[in-house]
Amino acid sequence: MTARIAIFGDLLDFTAEPDWGDTLSSSVRWRPAHWLLVEGGRIVAVQADAPDASWQRHDHAGRLVLPGFIDSHVHSPQLDVIASYGTELLDWLHTYTFPAEQRHADPAQAEAVATLFLDALLAHGTTAAVVFPTVHKVSAEALFSAAQQRGMRLVAGKVLMDRHAPEGLRDDVVQAERDCRDLIARWHGRERLAYAVTVRFAPTSTPQQLAMAGRLCAEDPTLYMQTHVAENPDEVRWVAELFPKARSYLDVYERHGLLNQRSVLAHGIWLDAADRARLHTLGAQIAFCPSSNLFLGSGLFGWAATEDAGVGISLASDVGGGTSLSMQRTLADGYKVQALAGTKLSAWALLHAATRGAAQALGLSHEIGSLEGGTVADLCVWDWAGSAVARRRQQVARDLHEKVFAWITLGDERDLVETWVAGVRRHRRDGVR
Ligand code: GUN
Ligand code: ZN
Repeated sequence: MTARIAIFGDLLDFTAEPDWGDTLSSSVRWRPAHWLLVEGGRIVAVQADAPDASWQRHDHAGRLVLPGFIDSHVHSPQLDVIASYGTELLDWLHTYTFPAEQRHADPAQAEAVATLFLDALLAHGTTAAVVFPTVHKVSAEALFSAAQQRGMRLVAGKVLMDRHAPEGLRDDVVQAERDCRDLIARWHGRERLAYAVTVRFAPTSTPQQLAMAGRLCAEDPTLYMQTHVAENPDEVRWVAELFPKARSYLDVYERHGLLNQRSVLAHGIWLDAADRARLHTLGAQIAFCPSSNLFLGSGLFGWAATEDAGVGISLASDVGGGTSLSMQRTLADGYKVQALAGTKLSAWALLHAATRGAAQALGLSHEIGSLEGGTVADLCVWDWAGSAVARRRQQVARDLHEKVFAWITLGDERDLVETWVAGVRRHRRDGVR
């Protein structure tokens, strides 16, 4: 018999997309002191009354229950370079990141880091992610295998890069295509795993490799595509030199058949209105990475212009350009970046983008991103406050938006009590009652 689990707490999720500045949004679903019932790994009901004794009860009275966070852009091997001093994107890649990624040719390293990385995601309340491993096939294998063992929803793929990278970190078109096809056959659509054709960024792939990647996407429209776009001004200038016929950086990807509803493009800071219109038309989405954008000094993403153009936006840590796997910290950084642009994002807009919004953009809202009946029970239990200052702030908060905004702004993974993936508890804070 499958376990019947009942989790009690203050349930918060969304039924629609909130407008970015609306603190009173009717899309917020707030069900304090409710039971969430899980059977066979899925949410089967939410109710105020306690269920009967056939349900295994987990009482988290006074705690917050949220859908698991979705990190829509993060690099597993870059735990080794998180918090590296003093560079912008292109220097950062060559000084810190490429040398670290070279180590992942070793299967033992790849396996050890995949395990560490996924356990770290779970310990930060992230239950689903779109992930870059390295160029090495073995690093993608290790990541998929570790995600499968944990029952996690993961989108990933071997990184494609056949130029402008050091020895040991380059593939070639023929071998890369072979590796992609093997990995797709083995992992795409297997349990909760999906393959993403993973172009690192335009400068590290030849036009021939980009064309190969485009062919893979065209052959199977259920594949995802992930890459970086228009993150840094020097990078944008370099792409213009490398692809003189392209109208823009984004156009390089469009010309090679890489933009569709399953494309996740990180950053998109230095796009213009024509690019945003193309993203909208093609259905591709932006992963906003505020911590990384601040840390690498990349620039300030235009949320309002992007949303106004009808482009989906999700939130992402972009570790190791970003400095924390905590989605609370990522959301708090997102608020501050947008505040500089005069766009005061509500707690609802932020939280939605890291849960239901990301799920929708990935075409996975039937499975993740909310506490809706029928979806997979990927959820987290959180304390409302983890410090005396945060407790005081919660005590004086006048309404739910104020409470949740303070929780995002003052919180981090230390507030996390439990992480559940498909109805199985995969993380529990030490010493929890
Ligand atoms: N552009 C190409 N590769 C990377 C990477 O690893 N991190 C970030 N932030 N940008 C990139
Ligand atoms: Zn990145």
